[in-house]
Amino acid sequence: MQAERLTLGIETSCDETAAAVVADGRKILSNIIASQVDIHQRFGGVVPEIASRHHIAAVLPIVDRALREAAVDLADIEVVAATQGPGLVGGLLVGLAAGKAMAFALNKPLVGVNHIEGHIYANFLAHPEVNPPLICLTVSGGHTDLLYIPKLGEYRILGRTRDDAAGEAFDKIARVLGLPYPGGPEIDKLAQQGDPQAIDFPRGLADSGNFDFSFSGLKTAALNYINQSRQRNETLPLADFAASLQWSIVDVLTGKLLAAARAYGVRSIVLSGGVAANSMLRRHLSRQASVMGLTVLYPPPVLCTDNAAMIASAGFFRYLAGWRSGWNLNAQPSLRLGDD
Ligand code: KG4
Ligand code: ZN
Repeated sequence: MQAERLTLGIETSCDETAAAVVADGRKILSNIIASQVDIHQRFGGVVPEIASRHHIAAVLPIVDRALREAAVDLADIEVVAATQGPGLVGGLLVGLAAGKAMAFALNKPLVGVNHIEGHIYANFLAHPEVNPPLICLTVSGGHTDLLYIPKLGEYRILGRTRDDAAGEAFDKIARVLGLPYPGGPEIDKLAQQGDPQAIDFPRGLADSGNFDFSFSGLKTAALNYINQSRQRNETLPLADFAASLQWSIVDVLTGKLLAAARAYGVRSIVLSGGVAANSMLRRHLSRQASVMGLTVLYPPPVLCTDNAAMIASAGFFRYLAGWRSGWNLNAQPSLRLGDD
């Protein structure tokens, strides 16, 4: 039997310090995530400077745990993959420095990974059978990108948000409601008891005929609704508000995904990024797609949000394709897919 080829993945682009060991790019041996959510919760969002300090303290113990849980030694690792961007520069620098130091000391190759590509590879980890061509929606706190993936490693951006990311809209509105950070899962929970038709929120660019998104109009409408109800001393119908807000986002995302699949003649849709954990998005999109004979796949929630297994997987396939990063690899906070 051929020995498994091991990748160590490191992810520090936002508020999760994560390390993972993945075999042959598709099999997770360990996936350790130290979340800083509790630390940032009282600020209502991630404070970059605080995040970097915690990454520094956490990164090596987390790598150790990932190796221990996978029952492998650092010397068994074939390639080290670390997130290069996009993300918060201070955090990225910590993960890159750790990855570089280990790769250099062991004389192993280093591969810088695009965080968004990592999110896409979460699907290849969760569903080894999935293969391009695919339509993919990467939807997180920082991104809303609709992609056509004709083959492995090739990405065509069909559309993206012109202002806020979908997760950002969830988080910002939730914050005004006084819900804990991150707001997406909180809205998702509240929405279970609500009526999605109760409030008619705007659907930005829904009929634009292209694949771009806009969530700033929704954010303004939602904030106005909250303010008006406060001014009138009315109790906000929280569950209905959450369900309607969620529905306006899910409706637009679903509409554009199905239109893209139709336009490109693609039978499979994959979701990635934190918002891909949204229960209504999963349910509604799957139902609509099955009517059209399309398949919808998404990773389990732990692989939707930031993790290092997805970075190891994307890094391994880059490595197989011949990618190698130099010791001068730098953080790229605004890195876009296809730019590297
Ligand atoms: O991918 P991720 O962990 O970090 C970024 O790269 O941004 O995504 C975090 C985002 C946050 O905006 C969070 O509110 C959102 O994903 N999120 C959700 C759900 N779970 C996480 N949004 C809606 N519904 C959820 N269940
Ligand atoms: Zn992410």
